[in-house]
This record gives sequence, C-alpha cells and structure tokens, in this order.
Amino acid sequence: MRVGIMTGGGDAPGLNGIIEAVSRSVLNQSPENRMVGILDGFEGVFGMRTREIKFNDVLGIHCEAGTFLGTTNKSRIAGRSEEFQAAIQKMNLDCLIAAGGDGTFSALKQLAPSLPIIGVPKTIDNDLPGTEITFGFDTACSVVADSVDALRSTAEAHSRVMIVETMGRTAGWIALGGGMASYADAILIPERPFSRPKFLDFLKAKRAAGKRGLVVVVSEAAKAEKEDATVAFRVEESVQQERFGGIAEKLARWIEKETGWESRHVVLGHLQRSRSPTTTDRFLTASMGTLAGNLAVMKKWNRAVVYREGRVLDVPLTDIQGDARIVETDHRWVKVCLAQGIFI
Ligand code: F6P
Repeated sequence: MRVGIMTGGGDAPGLNGIIEAVSRSVLNQSPENRMVGILDGFEGVFGMRTREIKFNDVLGIHCEAGTFLGTTNKSRIAGRSEEFQAAIQKMNLDCLIAAGGDGTFSALKQLAPSLPIIGVPKTIDNDLPGTEITFGFDTACSVVADSVDALRSTAEAHSRVMIVETMGRTAGWIALGGGMASYADAILIPERPFSRPKFLDFLKAKRAAGKRGLVVVVSEAAKAEKEDATVAFRVEESVQQERFGGIAEKLARWIEKETGWESRHVVLGHLQRSRSPTTTDRFLTASMGTLAGNLAVMKKWNRAVVYREGRVLDVPLTDIQGDARIVETDHRWVKVCLAQGIFI
C-alpha cells in the first residue's frame, strides 16, 4: 500500500506524534507498505511535493513541536477538486491521511467520498466538532497555566493587575483550561460576555480583601456584554480570515483608567503552539496515529479518528466537519471556577 500523509492548518503540538505513529503502524504491518509524506499541506498536493518516509526517519520526532512535513493555513482548494484528485492519483496513493483543523476538513468535504481520506482532527483551540479533545490543547493549556503561575509573583511584587491573553478563536477552551489549572483570579471567555461593572467590582473586592497582585486570563475573542470581539487583522487566503487579538492591552489600559492601579498585559501568542507536547498529548497522538494507520491498512476510508468518553475511536468523517464546538456557558469547568471564587 502507498499511504499519503499531510498536515494542514496551523501547527499544533502533537503533529509530529501523529506522523510518527501513523508511519510506524503502517510500515510495521508489511515490508511492502510505503509512506508518502506530502509537504506544506494542500500546497504540497497541488505541487506534488512529497518525500518518502522510511521507518527510521520518524523515530523520536513525537516529542518535537511543529511538523516534520510543513503546513500552511491557506487552504486554496475551492474550485480545484478535480486538480486535487488528479494529483492524488498521479502520486499513486491508495489513501490520504490528513491531520488538520476546521479549514482542512471543510476543504476536504468537497472531495470525500470520491477520495479515500482518513481525518485526524487537530487544533490547540479544542473546538472541532465530533471529538471531546484535540491533541495540542493540553500543551497549550500548560503554557497558559505555567505563565499565570510565573506572572503571579510579579503581580504580587508590584501590586499590579496582569492580563494574560490566550489563543482559541471563538472558543474559550484554552483560557478556561489554563486559567482553571492555575487558579487565575478571573477568566474571560467569548462564550460568557462579561459585565464591565461586575468585573471591576470583583477586582476591587479582591484588593479590598488584601490581594496585592491579580492575574486575569482573557481569551483572544472575549468581549464585554454588547461589544464585539477585537479583530487584529485579516488573512485573505485563510478559511477563517479574521485574526483576533488586542483585548488584553485594551483591558489593561481600561483597568488603569478606572482604578488607578498599574496594569500590564502579556500576549502568549504562538508560544502556545510551539512547545514540545505534554505526555497527555503524546498518549493521544500515539493512540490516534496507530488507529489512523490501521484504518488505512484495512482500507476503511472516510473515517475520522476521535476521542470520546475516554477512548480513541473512528467515526464518519462528516462528524468533524461542522461548526466550532464552543464552551457551553454552564460547562462543568465553568462551575468549578465559580465554586473556587474565580470570576468567569
Ligand atoms: O486555530 C489555531 C490558532 O492558533 C488560533 O488560536 C489563532 O487565533 C490562530 O490559529 C492564529 O493563526 P496564525 O497562525 O495565522 O497567526
């Protein structure tokens, strides 16, 4: 068998784990099997830029950030499905395993079931439908939690309010997970637009109770009630064009103006994606990559490898091709935060 593998969209910790686990499981099953790595996502399909992956090439890459194959979040596939299919045929692939996010799978929607595809959902945002957890999310949360824990000391030293901005697009999972794990004082997520007066009252009450330093985690698309999320710029060729950002700085200036307390902001940005994957993410990618490789060898196409109720399993590819999975406003983690006296 000739199994193709590509990574699409923004990088996420764990992509290399998928590449290693898929390659090992396919190549282990028969000396006749071949793995073909497609470079730079969809660009590599159209340009037919590939490299053969031998067993020894990928040994140990699971612990590295980034992707061994390169990627792009510019999915220019619209109107090019015939060209795409012809390229897959020319590369003589029996199937294509794609690790990607919403952009990749909405693009691939046009091609399945005419192409034998196996999808592995990927995003640090944890917002893909059909799966409870995506790999990369745990690592991103760890970066947030480590940052909050570190920044608490400087907040205390200076009696400052530190605002930490996380990624996540329209879903607040990273801010919620990272903020909860580090017991941030407040967590602001897009799904729960905050009341400016209530937020200020909360900060003032904390100060009045003797808390010198305060740390707030804010998701990049969080917003106050009746306000819009802050869009920093747009990427025209991207499926989701807007890039959110800037809310932390705005909040810091506003808090200073309203209270007279010194406030500073930190934007964690791509540091949330560029860290070596946590052990939890490695468990996930080892299991998901093994299953994806087995599905390919069993010729079970148009399936997605997902995580549900503590297990990695395969479901129809269409399960992961839908709207973003955002945080329910009364999610159990929100309840934990409220019980801990965290403003959310
Ligand atoms: O979807 C993953 C993500 O990291 C988002 O959290 C973030 O808004 C966006 O990608 C950033 O995209 P880019 O890599 O184009 O700056």
